[in-house]
Amino acid sequence: MKKEKILCVVGTRPEAIKMAPVILALKREPEFDVRVLATAQHRHMLDQVLDFFGIKPDIDLNVMRPNQALTELTARLLLELDGVLKTEKPDMALVQGDTTTVMTVALACFYHRIPVGHVEAGLRTWDMRNPFPEEANRVITGKLARWHFAPTENSRRNLLQEGVSDADIVVTGNTVIDALLMTAAQDIRLDIPLDGNKRLVLVTSHRRENFGEPFRNICRALRALAEANPSVQFLYPVHPNPNVKDVAYELLGACPNILLCEPLDYAPFVAAMKRSYLIISDSGGVQEEAPALGKPVLVLRDETERPEAVEQGVVKLVGPNYDRIVKEAQTLLDDENAYRSMARGISPYGDGHGAERIVKTLSDHFS
Ligand code: UD1
Ligand code: UDP
Repeated sequence: MKKEKILCVVGTRPEAIKMAPVILALKREPEFDVRVLATAQHRHMLDQVLDFFGIKPDIDLNVMRPNQALTELTARLLLELDGVLKTEKPDMALVQGDTTTVMTVALACFYHRIPVGHVEAGLRTWDMRNPFPEEANRVITGKLARWHFAPTENSRRNLLQEGVSDADIVVTGNTVIDALLMTAAQDIRLDIPLDGNKRLVLVTSHRRENFGEPFRNICRALRALAEANPSVQFLYPVHPNPNVKDVAYELLGACPNILLCEPLDYAPFVAAMKRSYLIISDSGGVQEEAPALGKPVLVLRDETERPEAVEQGVVKLVGPNYDRIVKEAQTLLDDENAYRSMARGISPYGDGHGAERIVKTLSDHFS
């Protein structure tokens, strides 16, 4: 029997987290020859996740450079991918999300006439500058993909609005919930010196459109909150992008109740989310995971491509805006009713069976 060769591509931390359940599910099916390509747009943060899920890349392009520029990264990726596609000749490729890796794989596969499946398809803010450059990456990928694995009905509607045929869209749920449920069920130790009696506020931030003054505002707001609430512990695993890391350590390094640390491995990060009282973040993945764990999220952005949790009232947009961050966080720390209305434990993004649905679609197609 001829096996269908599927090239599963991962470049950054969130792609690996969300693609891991799909790779593991595909590998259980004898009809597929699964090849894993790591572009390594991220290095350490990608390896952390692949190690945790026991996935060893068959090909590793090792493209990450310190403080890489988008044009340079895109050009390097396209050239490297050209060589891989010529040698590997996959029957299809699978990509996840909206990174530069995703967009360049979609384009390189288009040039090589290799069909692409897009996992987490159809997320849109309809604003090319927000998030930057991710909105453009997913629009381009959406134009080129053959299969669109949309996480929600809303993302399916976005694709229909762009003229994608309904027959090419499958609503699967977001595979981040598959990964979360696989991980949250384990007994994980959070090896960080936290005071068990203090409420924990967990923070992450890395968006390019916030670099510069907006990110400095975010840090100033965190510092004001920490100073006003000495009995609350803040934990902030800092993204290694120098535009983030240098500023975070400069503005927050001296606050006694803000603990800055390296990015956490996925399992301890899930443990930190479970242990937290409140999460303040601009991360896409965290916006999806936290509601399922019953944790309110204040999102450090003015727009989101993930409106479902906002509409349900468990996630709130506060922008990179000093006053809104301080006011909304303080309300959640002080007002139990406001807190309870956001800490409800609902999962608008998935039920943990997203990967199964993707594998079934591909199985049905190839058989
Ligand atoms: C990328 C994605 C973004 C995604 C984010 C997840 C693009 C354009 N951006 O942003 O959509 O939300 O990943 O985290 O695709 N670095 C390290 N070690 C690592 C990873 C990064 O040192 O393991 C540093 C390097 O200096 C690197 C820089 O971070 O040059 C930026 O990495 P890059 O992937 O270009 O952008 P992110 O901001 O991480
Ligand atoms: N995450 C992690 N360690 C951390 C911070 C986040 O493992 O220190 C996980 C988090 O659980 C989520 C994913 O990384 O699944 C989100 O990645 P990121 O915020 O880098 O990217 P985005 O989702 O915004 O694209």
